[in-house]
Amino acid sequence: MVLSTKEATKTLFYHLETFGCQMNVNDSEYLSGQLEEMGYVMTRDINIADLIILNTCCVRAKVEQKIYSRAGIISKIKKFKPYIIFGICGCMAQKGKEMIKKRVPAVDLIFGPSQITSVQKLLENFKQNKRRKTTILCDNKESFQLASTPIKHQSSITAYLQIMKGCNNFCSYCIVPYVRGPEESRPAEEILLEIESLAQKNFKEIMLLGQNVNSYGYDLNLKTKENFLTLLSKVNNIKNIERIRFITSHPKDFNLDLVKVIEKHPKICEHIHLPLQSGSDTILKKMNRKYNMEQYYNIINNIKEHIPGASISSDIMVGFPGETERDFEETIQALKNIGFDSVYSFIYSNREGTLSPFLGKDVPLETKKKRLWTLLDIQKDIANQKNRYLIGETVEILVESSSKKGIEKQYWGKTRTNKVAVFTYPYQEDLLGRLVNVKIQNADAYTLYGELINGKLK
Ligand code: 5AD
Ligand code: SF4
Repeated sequence: MVLSTKEATKTLFYHLETFGCQMNVNDSEYLSGQLEEMGYVMTRDINIADLIILNTCCVRAKVEQKIYSRAGIISKIKKFKPYIIFGICGCMAQKGKEMIKKRVPAVDLIFGPSQITSVQKLLENFKQNKRRKTTILCDNKESFQLASTPIKHQSSITAYLQIMKGCNNFCSYCIVPYVRGPEESRPAEEILLEIESLAQKNFKEIMLLGQNVNSYGYDLNLKTKENFLTLLSKVNNIKNIERIRFITSHPKDFNLDLVKVIEKHPKICEHIHLPLQSGSDTILKKMNRKYNMEQYYNIINNIKEHIPGASISSDIMVGFPGETERDFEETIQALKNIGFDSVYSFIYSNREGTLSPFLGKDVPLETKKKRLWTLLDIQKDIANQKNRYLIGETVEILVESSSKKGIEKQYWGKTRTNKVAVFTYPYQEDLLGRLVNVKIQNADAYTLYGELINGKLK
């Protein structure tokens, strides 16, 4: 779509704010791609924007509150500049379109995650609508249109790539299956073609995205027999891609075959994100996670046995309805037994429409907070120990960004195990996008600090 002659004479700016997970970040990349194809130019300055879009998340109440507060600020700007177009899209839009319309009367466009790829059409229709009536379009069963949608990647080194949409798991606390709809896998040929094209554009790392990547292909199986394992080996064969990562895995589908595929294929990074959620079998059952601690420990043992040096990260929630002190202690025990390299921890947030509020007594907020702080403290020590263990080792870093530090340049990148590493380099030569060997000299819970091993640039 092209802009009308009148519009084309003036630069139109768009301002986009993204909340939530990598899936949303990737959706925003598609939004940017389409808007820039229309001639819009990105701005960080909300005050000069002609189009403002909030790409939202609704996994926890806190993020929703933040989004409403941003929407309040934008509504005020719109009072003085009524010609601005204001859109709210993504998961919160899908979940509460009517509520948004009521609480944010200034909003012009409300659309769900499945309509991200239709933003050009939505804008075009809205501009033709003389009365500027709020447009609402939220159909989470609409199919993928990613292959034919322009994209603007936020990094030129790592590319996010959705291999499937939706989730069929219905964990009892989670709103995602309701807002993102049922699982739908993209055809493998489409994914592979896209990765080949990314390789030609010099991307070094591919991050395969899905709410539960392990069930990729289950909905395609009858026709193609394609699954996550076959997909991974095919991606591994694509030339010039150096690293493959994927998130998120679900323990119920994480079998020994997958562990062996990671072991066998050199480009698949030795980092596994495996959300545990709770260390108590009682709570796991109430969460409808479909595994118990014995099964989870089995997976961890398989990973440790077959993929030496692998790092494992996790998501853990505290304060699920009915969680007792003993349940929480079991989570802490699991944390200590497993030794995660990093953990994203959350306070349980009641999501209307999910089953969890009916499964136990609400845990008082003070107790939830106390449990979160205890967990964070213990995990920080574990992560610190794990990282310090690497001091003296030489690790491979994919260099992702740089900044000036005096006359030297400071570089930032990640190990294959997804740890952030920082090092300085005194020469002009640009290392961005390169794989380099770095000897670790120091470490804390979050970062490795090292020096480049001369002559080992790849
Ligand atoms: N409350 C708190 N955390 C939640 N998550 C999902 N739903 C909720 C909720 N209602 C967390 C889970 C999930 C991560 C992406 O967000 O830990 O793995
Ligand atoms: Fe939510 Fe569970 Fe699906 Fe993850 S697997 S998106 S936690 S329902």
